[in-house]
Amino acid sequence: MGSWTIEFIQTKDGSNTLYSQRFEQYFHSVKEGALNESLYKHIVPALQHHKNKNELNILDICFGLGYNTLATIYYIKKNNINIKLNIYSPEFDTELLHSLPNFQYPKEFLEFKYIIDKISQTFRYQDKNINIEVFNGDAREYIKTLSNIHIVYQDAFSSDVNKSLWTKEYFNDIYKLLDKDAIITTYSIATPIRLSMYENNLFIYEYKNDFTNRITIAMKNKFTIEPSGYKYIDMELKKQRNSSAKPLRDLD
Ligand SMILES: C[S@@+](CC[C@H](N)C(=O)[O-])C[C@H]1O[C@@H](n2cnc3c(N)ncnc32)[C@H](O)[C@@H]1O
Repeated sequence: MGSWTIEFIQTKDGSNTLYSQRFEQYFHSVKEGALNESLYKHIVPALQHHKNKNELNILDICFGLGYNTLATIYYIKKNNINIKLNIYSPEFDTELLHSLPNFQYPKEFLEFKYIIDKISQTFRYQDKNINIEVFNGDAREYIKTLSNIHIVYQDAFSSDVNKSLWTKEYFNDIYKLLDKDAIITTYSIATPIRLSMYENNLFIYEYKNDFTNRITIAMKNKFTIEPSGYKYIDMELKKQRNSSAKPLRDLD
């Protein structure tokens, strides 16, 4: 038996997700919708930030069912964006990767089924404009091999069950692979997670749109003018007000 339940769980927007028995968590927010979450917490803010680029290197932490990778492709095709995408994504669950062709994806992804089929067989996909590499192993090892990343979709299970992908040491390795105007998108708004990023010289913003709960955006550069929906978070002030707040550490 796999480490996730076989039954598809329908989320609020009608798209399906899975429940992980190993991590005791759903792969997506059932209340907010899997596709909705992927598009509005990750893809829209990240691609709007980089709207003038003609090539993007994206780190998708972690591949899971591949919503963030597929929604990125869906978004650029739907909006006729002419861009080259290089997507790098770790995923240590081999059985899950092999099972992906059986998953019932939302109709928005049906035209990309051939991409999922190929990834599930070879852990790679390549055409003229899209290059996807799924690393079948531990994300902590894989991130040490990457550089010049413009976007990180930080979408691991939550820190209480998947701590190694939220610590100060993890974000230290993430910081090293970032390009100069990189953006990290994550659903987590917890202060210890923000501190794990802030204590690696990242600027912390809260971002809110009309479709999902607020999220955290971490940036390598500070905005001169904050775009609509963004609010700068003064982490020094947070630390003063809550002296017991600490980043997560590998050895905690
Ligand atoms: C919340 S799910 C990913 C959600 C993903 N965006 C999707 O569309 O399904 C987290 C994924 O991370 C994987 N994972 C957790 N820890 C990992 C690690 N250290 N290295 C590689 N994969 C990991 C799990 O197997 C799971 O598939």
